[in-house]
Amino acid sequence: MSVVLLERPAEHVALIRINRPDARNALNMEVRKLLAQHLTELGQDPATRVIIITGNEKAFAAGADIKEMADAGTIEMMQRGTHLLWRVIAACPKPVIAAVNGFALGGGCELAMTCDIIIAGENAKLGQPEVKIGILPGGGGTQRLPRAIGKYKAMKICLTGDLVAAKDAYDMGLVSEIAPDAEVEKRAIEMATQIASYAPLAVQQIKELVNAGQDASLDTALRLETKAMHILFSSQDQKEGMQAFIEKRKPNFQGR
Ligand code: CAA
Repeated sequence: MSVVLLERPAEHVALIRINRPDARNALNMEVRKLLAQHLTELGQDPATRVIIITGNEKAFAAGADIKEMADAGTIEMMQRGTHLLWRVIAACPKPVIAAVNGFALGGGCELAMTCDIIIAGENAKLGQPEVKIGILPGGGGTQRLPRAIGKYKAMKICLTGDLVAAKDAYDMGLVSEIAPDAEVEKRAIEMATQIASYAPLAVQQIKELVNAGQDASLDTALRLETKAMHILFSSQDQKEGMQAFIEKRKPNFQGR
């Protein structure tokens, strides 16, 4: 069986399941390449509007595969190009929901942070323990974490390597929503279905604006927002959405 499974749990929703249970879903090169490949393909697939990434009940992903990197040198690490695969994952134009149960550590936490929404089980544990094995969060953790939760909490997590319980992660803004462990996937599919029912162009513009705006000045970001808002008035879905409201019926969005 593949180390990454692709499922279709609902209309317009794709679910990518990391499937290395014996290694706590550690991200080896095969998993990383398949994640990037699926996200690229689903990003271009008109039938897919929202994507979920999940693992199993014990681990979303316990980080990079330590056994695969232990003996690597600098050039080999460069040539593996994992930084390029991270960029592919982050570049997916459609909303990606991380459904997290168990451990989301190191690269696993970074994978969740590369997603747009994080739903965590109440017993999930997140963290950046790389410092304990002589490296650092190299999949975006030193940058995405402070942007998400602020410098001082991020420093504590990266420098101590201590794990963060889901409830604390939620309180600090690292998690979007907590669910009972057994309900995490169901809740992710429910939320994905809700988002997939909206106009795909509007949804994708929102994702792009929130992400691009974070690193721009407020003035520039607000201008981007205005332009995107105006562009949506060229879409059929804007006409359909507003007409449906006026006619008191459900809109039928086509992504055009
Ligand atoms: N890489 C490779 N194998 C891993 C792994 C990892 N990140 N995490 C777990 N495994 C393997 C274990 O070696 C073990 O394999 P064996 O049965 O062959 O011994 C199996 O998965 C089960 O693991 P445990 O017995 O340790 O399970 P546990 O439930 O007692 O503990 C855990 C789970 C707390 C996640 C613990 O496995 C752990 O601490 N893992 C490492 C976490 C870590 O350091 N992650 C950061 C990796 S570096 C990184 O991610 C770099 C980056 O940002 C780019």
